[in-house]
Amino acid sequence: MEISENLIARLQSADSVVFFTGAGISAESGIPTFRGKDGIWNKLKPEELANFNAFMRNPEMVWEWYKYRRGIVHQSKPNDGHIAIARFEEIIKKVSVVTQNIDNLHRRAGSRNIYELHGNIERNYCIKCRTFYNDDLDIKDKVPRCVCGGLIRPDVVWFGEYLPEDQYSGAERVSSACDIFFVVGTTGIVFPAASLIYSAKRAGAYIVEVNVEETEVSSVAGESYFGEAGKILPAIFNKISEKKGT
Ligand code: APR
Repeated sequence: MEISENLIARLQSADSVVFFTGAGISAESGIPTFRGKDGIWNKLKPEELANFNAFMRNPEMVWEWYKYRRGIVHQSKPNDGHIAIARFEEIIKKVSVVTQNIDNLHRRAGSRNIYELHGNIERNYCIKCRTFYNDDLDIKDKVPRCVCGGLIRPDVVWFGEYLPEDQYSGAERVSSACDIFFVVGTTGIVFPAASLIYSAKRAGAYIVEVNVEETEVSSVAGESYFGEAGKILPAIFNKISEKKGT
């Protein structure tokens, strides 16, 4: 796979790089994406599973779905794409990961500066007193309850909910100050997360898309690499580390 001289030169001189990732980077870890041919939303309705009203209407069903997804995440492991992103920290001064994913695979791959825009499936909290429970929550009942009696929910951002302020503002800060902004494995159509692509571009970042197919982002990217992230990202890393003699 050919890496452009332009991208190589930019990466060699870059101080700060952001990897903005979506479900596509975890596809090769066996975690289903949301859209596209086998997308989750082709079979299930987000309004029935991924919003607060659905949870209050039927907490048992929503918990069943998240327990199922959590099971998939627990059986998955970071793939070569996650690992390449973590390894970029060896050769670029400042690397940040801004992810829409809730699967914790970037952290398990070794990335350290991560902004989780949509939460983390391995965390939970009580909707009444906001006590946090981590993943070893012994979900005896179909719907776990807090010691205060409140319902416990997954710590993920549902449709119509605000993104965690600290995560979004931190992501906005690094996206508006980076030299190169990689957009990896996302349709780039869910806002406000996707607005970070345009903030980065407006601030002068060079946008590089990595996806198996064209998306809304392709028209604003400086260059797009079409193929699996688990192959493209290691190829880019190897090329740069070779140039840097690491
Ligand atoms: N490598 C690179 N890209 C891939 C791969 C792969 N191996 N497999 C799939 N893709 C691409 C698809 O072409 C698609 O563009 O990943 C993208 C996945 O898009 P979505 O399923 O829409 O996922 P995402 O963009 O992360 O969705 C954003 O929507 O439902 C909400 O909260 C959910 O965070 C999610 C948000």
